[in-house]
Amino acid sequence: MKIGIVVYSETGHTYSVAEKLQEKLQANGHLVDIERVTTGGDVNPGSKNVTFQNQPDVQSYDALVFGSPVHAFNLAPAMAAYLEQIQSLQDKKIACFVTKGLPFNWTGGNKAISKMKKICQSKGGTVVGTDIIIWRDNVDEKIEELIRRFSVLF
Ligand SMILES: Cc1cc2nc3c(=O)[nH]c(=O)nc-3n(C[C@H](O)[C@H](O)[C@H](O)COP(=O)(O)O)c2cc1C
Repeated sequence: MKIGIVVYSETGHTYSVAEKLQEKLQANGHLVDIERVTTGGDVNPGSKNVTFQNQPDVQSYDALVFGSPVHAFNLAPAMAAYLEQIQSLQDKKIACFVTKGLPFNWTGGNKAISKMKKICQSKGGTVVGTDIIIWRDNVDEKIEELIRRFSVLF
């Protein structure tokens, strides 16, 4: 299966999860690209006008993993704007994850994941898995658990 891992990442946490997941999915026999969403300048919370420097095209992928940090108790606005502009995710299997710094899933993790799910479903995608990684103690174990869970989805 051709899988695209599309991430927005400012300080590299989310991107590092994508790299580890790519390795595992490739070992399972998939063709896997990582594509990074980048913007021109800072994107403030609540911002609607996002200028993209890199806006990956997802149409050639059979399945997608979207990853993003949590910002201001919600999905990072750059990722929200990126997902919103995708035309169609029809017939694609999708998994979503976020990374975050504050303890507990309710400090933005749950809200960010439900936003990602809602946007993906509104484009016709089938969300088959989600995960939240809190970037604190035992982060390596949490990443391994995400990889274990996501590697059997596709
Ligand atoms: C502007 C900003 C807002 C943030 N807001 C939250 C938040 O509301 N909840 C949380 O758990 N972490 C928050 N964080 C922490 C990031 O989500 C966390 O460090 C994440 O892993 C960064 O991912 P990245 O390295 O891929 O950019 C925030 C970070 C930044 C820079």
